[in-house]
Amino acid sequence: MLLDDMPEPAAPFRSVRMTYYDGNSRIVRWTEREVPYPDGRLIVSRTDLDGYITHANDAFVELSGYGREELIGAPHYILRHPEMPRAAFADLWKTVMAGRKWNGYVKNLRKDGHCYWVYATAIPNVRGGEVVGYTSVRRKPSRRRIEELLPVYAQWLAEEGRPAAGAPA
Ligand SMILES: Cc1cc2nc3c(=O)[nH]c(=O)nc-3n(C[C@H](O)[C@H](O)[C@H](O)COP(=O)(O)O)c2cc1C
Repeated sequence: MLLDDMPEPAAPFRSVRMTYYDGNSRIVRWTEREVPYPDGRLIVSRTDLDGYITHANDAFVELSGYGREELIGAPHYILRHPEMPRAAFADLWKTVMAGRKWNGYVKNLRKDGHCYWVYATAIPNVRGGEVVGYTSVRRKPSRRRIEELLPVYAQWLAEEGRPAAGAPA
């Protein structure tokens, strides 16, 4: 699958070339702007075993800024924000592949380059004893917890050799 570079956002932005676990790469452009998580909504998506999106509810479509037709069939990493450490997703995958539930705070990247924070739960979907895919449900995150996590994520990023500022692309 070929991924298009992200278009230039209308607001001031930074950019970096991101390479994903499957070797795909693209130029990602992001702003400092956070779009608040809407009150009373749940964002739901389902993926296949490889993390390709198979279902997106209306709240997911609205908050991500992508059309449903763009989301279905796309790898979930199109939401990956350059300031999110890889270690968080490694933990997510390890947990759900072992058949367990994962919870965590995730900063996601919208199509327009703005971001939104979520508190995510990801679970394996089991049919007849087999894991056939994964579901994630996101809720409005605790602002206090995000503030606590920012230095932790920054530390993990630095350990991964990807300081949050990003290299010019
Ligand atoms: C059910 C499910 C939901 C996911 N939701 C997100 C998400 O909202 N944002 C995100 O960046 N990655 C999400 N991921 C993880 C991505 O598949 C991917 O591992 C991550 O974006 C890091 O990219 P990388 O694996 O290429 O390093 C999800 C994975 C699963 C299985």
